[in-house]
Amino acid sequence: MPNSVSPASAQNSSGGAAVDNVKPASAAPIAVSSAASKYTEQPVVSIHRWNEGLMSLRINRDAAYSFVPGQFARIGLIKEDGEIIWRAYSIVSAPHEAFLEFFLVVVPTGEFSSRVSKLNIGDTMLVEKHAQGFLTADRFKDGRDLWLLATGTGLAPYISMVRDHALWQQFENIVIVLSVRESSDLGYTEELAFLANQSPRAGGATLKFVTTLTREPVTGAAKDFDVLSGRINSLIVSGKLEQATGLPLIDEHSRFMLCGNPDMVECMRALLKSRGFRMNRRLEPGHILVENYW
Ligand SMILES: Cc1cc2nc3c(=O)[nH]c(=O)nc-3n(C[C@H](O)[C@H](O)[C@H](O)COP(=O)(O)OP(=O)(O)OC[C@H]3O[C@@H](n4cnc5c(N)ncnc54)[C@H](O)[C@@H]3O)c2cc1C
Ligand SMILES: NC(=O)c1ccc[n+]([C@@H]2O[C@H](COP(=O)([O-])OP(=O)(O)OC[C@H]3O[C@@H](n4cnc5c(N)ncnc54)[C@H](OP(=O)(O)O)[C@@H]3O)[C@@H](O)[C@H]2O)c1
Repeated sequence: MPNSVSPASAQNSSGGAAVDNVKPASAAPIAVSSAASKYTEQPVVSIHRWNEGLMSLRINRDAAYSFVPGQFARIGLIKEDGEIIWRAYSIVSAPHEAFLEFFLVVVPTGEFSSRVSKLNIGDTMLVEKHAQGFLTADRFKDGRDLWLLATGTGLAPYISMVRDHALWQQFENIVIVLSVRESSDLGYTEELAFLANQSPRAGGATLKFVTTLTREPVTGAAKDFDVLSGRINSLIVSGKLEQATGLPLIDEHSRFMLCGNPDMVECMRALLKSRGFRMNRRLEPGHILVENYW
């Protein structure tokens, strides 16, 4: 068993459609329904649109809500018929921030994300009271270089990690690699380039930020972060990722997190395994932690 939380366990137990059809106990306001103890209702406080299919959203954070960077929240929306749809979303914000931030793709046919895309500031969402997930850096007991590999919105948990202080003290090098189809699908580049350019932070890690485009030629236009071309696994096979970062992939030093598209997670897991890296398990320390988004 990998150390990930499968989409099924993260979203529902039916294995297929990721919808919990939880009906409120009555037509009374949810705050007094029997399910109310499981979640709170929070207003949207800001919305940022990166492009028409990609957005970041902040909601108010309940004072009692706690999480570790890398974990995800389950958030819900009440449908017109009173049913609640729940989905898992990695938390982008850091534990010290007063809001919960999410980075979302809008799947045009998606039941949940298409609704989220129509929300306005002041509209409310439901948030389960307990964060979940095991994609957290404290699960690595050693290692020098942390490779945070993402496709698309799989970047979300890594933002939370680098906004937090602890990760910078745990590793000497942090490498974020983000694979997207086109440059318009990139989010958070300014924040990450800034953090990378400021690093190393007082006695802490150096951050390297690399993006890679898979369906658009790389123009060579000046950017304050690296822009490569091709899927992450191809960049590892060709040695271009090690070349771009100056960091070799070595059993003793390298630890990996894989997050986002499950095909990428599977391809990368197989590739890393062929290089001698192992999944990290609770009783058997290894090199790899994963989170599949669907
Ligand atoms: C642990 C966990 C954390 C997650 N964190 C995030 C997150 O931070 N941001 C986010 O946008 N989604 C995240 N997801 C996915 C999210 O829960 C929803 O599945 C997604 O927002 C789409 O919901 P939907 O109802 O609109 O479509 P669904 O019916 O849930 O999905 C329809 C299809 O859309 C595609 N899809 C789903 N999610 C994504 C995605 N993120 N990127 C590209 N294609 C996708 C898949 O092909 C999927 O089969 C996470 C999932 C899990 C299990
Ligand atoms: N991202 C957006 O802005 C946006 C906008 C509108 C709608 N959507 C919807 O969101 C969904 C897709 O979103 P997305 O582009 O963020 O996610 P995606 O399809 O998972 O693509 C993200 C990155 O993952 C790479 N990838 C896919 N499979 C891989 C594998 N096996 N190994 C290594 N890398 C792999 C892709 O490379 P390849 O290009 O080579 O596959 C791409 O670089 C679609 O439903 C789309 O309609 C997205």
